[in-house]
Amino acid sequence: MIRISVIIAASLLFITCRPAISATHDDVDRKVEELLSKMTLEEKLGQMNQLSPWGDPSEIASAIRKGHVGSILNVVDPEMLNAVQKIAMEESRLKIPVIVGRDVIHGFKTIYPIPLGQAASFNPELVEEGARVAAIEAASVGVHWTFAPMIDIARDPRWGRIAESLGEDTYLTSVLGAAMVKGFQGSDLSDPSSIAACPKHFVGYGAGEGGRDYASTFIPERTLRNVYLPPFEEAVKVGAATFMTSFNDNDGVPSTGNKFILEQVLRKEWNFDGFVVSDWASVTEMIAHGFAKDPKEAAEKAIKAGVDMEMVSGSYMSSGKQLLEEGKITMGMIDDAVRNILRIKFRLGLFENPYVDTSAPPVLYAPAHLESAKEAAIQSAILLKNEGEVLPLNANTIKTIAVVGPMADAAHDQLGTWIFDGDKNYTRTPLATLKEQYGNDIRILYAAGTEFSRDARTDGIAAAVNVARQADVVLAFVGEEAILSGEAHSLANLNLQGAQSDLIAAVATTGKPVVTVVMAGRPLTIGRDVEVSNAVLYNFHPGTMGGPAIVDLLFGKAVPSGKLPVTFPKEVGQIPVYYSHNSTGRPYQGSETMLNDIPQEAGQTSLGNTSFYLDAGFAPLYPFGYGLSYTTFEYANLRLFSSSLKANDVLTVSVDIANTGKYDGVEVAQLYVQDCFGSVTRPVKELKRFERVPLKAGEKKTVTFTLPISELAFYNIDMIKTVEAGDFNLWVGTNSQAGLMTSFMVE
Ligand code: NOJ
Repeated sequence: MIRISVIIAASLLFITCRPAISATHDDVDRKVEELLSKMTLEEKLGQMNQLSPWGDPSEIASAIRKGHVGSILNVVDPEMLNAVQKIAMEESRLKIPVIVGRDVIHGFKTIYPIPLGQAASFNPELVEEGARVAAIEAASVGVHWTFAPMIDIARDPRWGRIAESLGEDTYLTSVLGAAMVKGFQGSDLSDPSSIAACPKHFVGYGAGEGGRDYASTFIPERTLRNVYLPPFEEAVKVGAATFMTSFNDNDGVPSTGNKFILEQVLRKEWNFDGFVVSDWASVTEMIAHGFAKDPKEAAEKAIKAGVDMEMVSGSYMSSGKQLLEEGKITMGMIDDAVRNILRIKFRLGLFENPYVDTSAPPVLYAPAHLESAKEAAIQSAILLKNEGEVLPLNANTIKTIAVVGPMADAAHDQLGTWIFDGDKNYTRTPLATLKEQYGNDIRILYAAGTEFSRDARTDGIAAAVNVARQADVVLAFVGEEAILSGEAHSLANLNLQGAQSDLIAAVATTGKPVVTVVMAGRPLTIGRDVEVSNAVLYNFHPGTMGGPAIVDLLFGKAVPSGKLPVTFPKEVGQIPVYYSHNSTGRPYQGSETMLNDIPQEAGQTSLGNTSFYLDAGFAPLYPFGYGLSYTTFEYANLRLFSSSLKANDVLTVSVDIANTGKYDGVEVAQLYVQDCFGSVTRPVKELKRFERVPLKAGEKKTVTFTLPISELAFYNIDMIKTVEAGDFNLWVGTNSQAGLMTSFMVE
């Protein structure tokens, strides 16, 4: 990829100042043991303690001097970080460097689309590149460790943190989550441009009841293993250095006190040898959960479960010694936790390179980074509707454009959630870009109509209608302010906020073509807005370069290729709605008797009824994997190389895809499998492969997928991961509800 090499070249500038220190596993283990043997109990507990230094700086300095702090988070000033590290390296007894953590979720300074948007690209290389850029920028100021990727399976758009997720699908999340880990950590953790990844939140956090943040989950072990755990296992396989526990209690056990997931699954089954950090105060939050009666008992439960480092709540420091004296925990438990932490500090090369090189050239907002963020925003945009081919716009024939809506020029809000370090002054908005690129040739009339997404006032709408009347086309930029998604920002109503729907409806009455461009942190229930719009381009908050990306898409300099990484419900009441559900005993058969089809006083019968809502039907607004292009693609000639396979065979399947339209484009071909009969009921479809296929107008290609049959294994009735012999269906197509179908058998 051209971009990756540009980015690597940019990062080389930075790398040359500080050499990478690779050490073998044996070397590291030897060093860890040597150091551990010299440590006092207090120093060990100190390593397990993470602080967010917002209090008195002299107190923090003194704690570090005493060896009471293993990590800090939320400091990104390189001078300050070097000063802190100097205390650890020169004034503490054992000179153990502090590891510096930060939430670098979708970019550090150069902000990429939110993870849900990146997932819409179905492009692991691009996602890896985004994480690489984030690492290069964050490392350049002294960050060693990011709390990402967030790989919670998210099937509830009410949940604000769906924005940070990679969507609803286990396979897509596994592939893209692994790509992020690789991007953050680079090829060598000790490279100064690498930062440690922290897959989170372990585990099940996305399944909170009712989409409420922090809420309890009830995920049975089989579903946990088949749906929620695989992305984390994949992250371990690609070498993730750390893990973060989740806030939720699953079936009554808070993750931070959950021995089963931390000891049995993570350590014993997956052989993870990095360290586990709690989420923010999630150790002592076990008191509010009613799982521990005080900080001491909370510390006991978390240490016993296998949480190595405690984020900010201090109970390990305050109670560790007493717990040990009372025999509630053992020195072995503490030693293991400290080993895990020191191992990662050594692997990061922190002992050799504790300081950030402040003389290195700045890499923040490097042109190659901005270019890459723009490409990510382009590939993340999803075209939902394009009636009468209103898009792309023709710059040669359009004389006047009306720009309306609160997101047209929302430099802060288009960045999305989790942008601690992003700076809105660098944001390129659609309005600014339109003026810059087309302002000389096209009259651009702007009337926001409503000021911000929640603005319910309708008095500005008349001005918007007025500009719409004068224009050849209306561009309506709507969506959500950044603060409406993200942590602790769940919603019960997913319609466009404020008066935005009124605004779209009002400009549509002018009869001018309306192109609605959404920028939001989650799927919204936009059925009625879609209906009155001629075209809809959906962007999960697209980041710093959202403006140039969207403008290129609108004018056809780029062609949409994004696909939905999550199902869009028609109504909130349909949630949870996701493509990979199990089959009921009365599956949907393609027709529904809707509310108004039922005669008055109809007699009660359940015959012929299937699983759906009388008032919302069965189908969602848009299915997982959906997304249009300016061009059209046709699938033909699906062929299996063999339709009878053994458990250790590799299935090979080919399909011809033709670009039958006028534009060059990229189609994301998706392969789904259904295991028809099992010892337990199985999902109606599961994504197993996908590929971005570039096709010039008129071009046809044969795409071949290979799939080891071993990847059809699941946790069966005996909770054993196995491939069960029998019949399978397979589809290859343009989304989860379309495609050519064939069948095969596993003997
Ligand atoms: C709480 C969030 O749940 C977690 O994702 C984040 O990394 C920590 N706070 C640290 O900011």
